[in-house]
Amino acid sequence: MHLIETAHLAMPKLGFGTWALKGADCARAVAEAIGLGYRHIDTAEMYDNEEAVGQGIRDSGIERERLFVTTKVWWTNLADPASALAASLKRMQLDYVDLFLIHWPNPAIPLARTLAAMEVLKERGLARAIGVANFPAALLQEAVATGAPIACNQIEYHVMLSQEPVLRVARAHDIAVTAYSPLGKGGLADDPVLAGIARRHGATGAQVALAWLLEQDRVAAIPKSGRVENMRANLAALDLRLTTEDRAAIAALPKTRRFVNPAWSPVWDQAA
Ligand SMILES: NC(=O)c1ccc[n+]([C@@H]2O[C@H](COP(=O)([O-])OP(=O)(O)OC[C@H]3O[C@@H](n4cnc5c(N)ncnc54)[C@H](OP(=O)(O)O)[C@@H]3O)[C@@H](O)[C@H]2O)c1
Repeated sequence: MHLIETAHLAMPKLGFGTWALKGADCARAVAEAIGLGYRHIDTAEMYDNEEAVGQGIRDSGIERERLFVTTKVWWTNLADPASALAASLKRMQLDYVDLFLIHWPNPAIPLARTLAAMEVLKERGLARAIGVANFPAALLQEAVATGAPIACNQIEYHVMLSQEPVLRVARAHDIAVTAYSPLGKGGLADDPVLAGIARRHGATGAQVALAWLLEQDRVAAIPKSGRVENMRANLAALDLRLTTEDRAAIAALPKTRRFVNPAWSPVWDQAA
């Protein structure tokens, strides 16, 4: 499996998103994804599926050390990440996660304090690496300035949304970027420009959208699918090579489309 290797982590470039998968469906999907070759599973305490994710991992029969598991602490729980991680581990029946993220920033809780508590969890071996999600460029810079070993920023990123300011800060500090909603929640699969590129490669629009992310330095993508045929197709995107012409066509797409923008979002366009 293609890996992103930085000072703080070694993470498979293509992961399996689990948001909205629940219960037996989620356990089945996770076990199927692992069976197909996925080695990176993304969940969060907020997804209310950690028990099922743990069940799927056990059902797959894979050794724990061969998997990369991410979970996240919800933004209202940032005063006590230790309790949140303990509860997540218990639900998944795991001894550690590979990556533990702040799910969303919370200006009411001092960031340095949360990150210091997360660093202790890393030192105790309960999280192999720590990081953030939904941090715009300036906030990512602020997180780095605390001195915490930030390994990753998980953000919405796809062919219709530029994340250049965040990528600049991430690259300057050897931080991996994980692209969530890489298929625009599925909507990008039918985009005519992507479909045109896909036809030339005998691929699909969804695979083109993923290939564009996966070819980028230190960028991972975590598409979600409940269907084996889509899980398999998304995995195959790792082998799709775009041309200069393809990239130019993708560069010309609109770049301001956000599919995830809840009330508690930070101001997205803060400069670093
Ligand atoms: N950190 C955060 O705040 C945050 C926010 C959002 C998401 N995430 C993470 O990122 C993961 C992915 O994002 P997402 O679930 O929002 O959206 P996504 O992965 O962009 O899209 C998922 C949708 O695309 C469809 N799909 C998957 N593969 C396809 C293919 N090859 N062709 C056509 N359609 C396909 C799926 O349908 P089927 O299931 O029918 O295949 C599903 O409806 C989440 O599951 C979660 O783990 C994190």
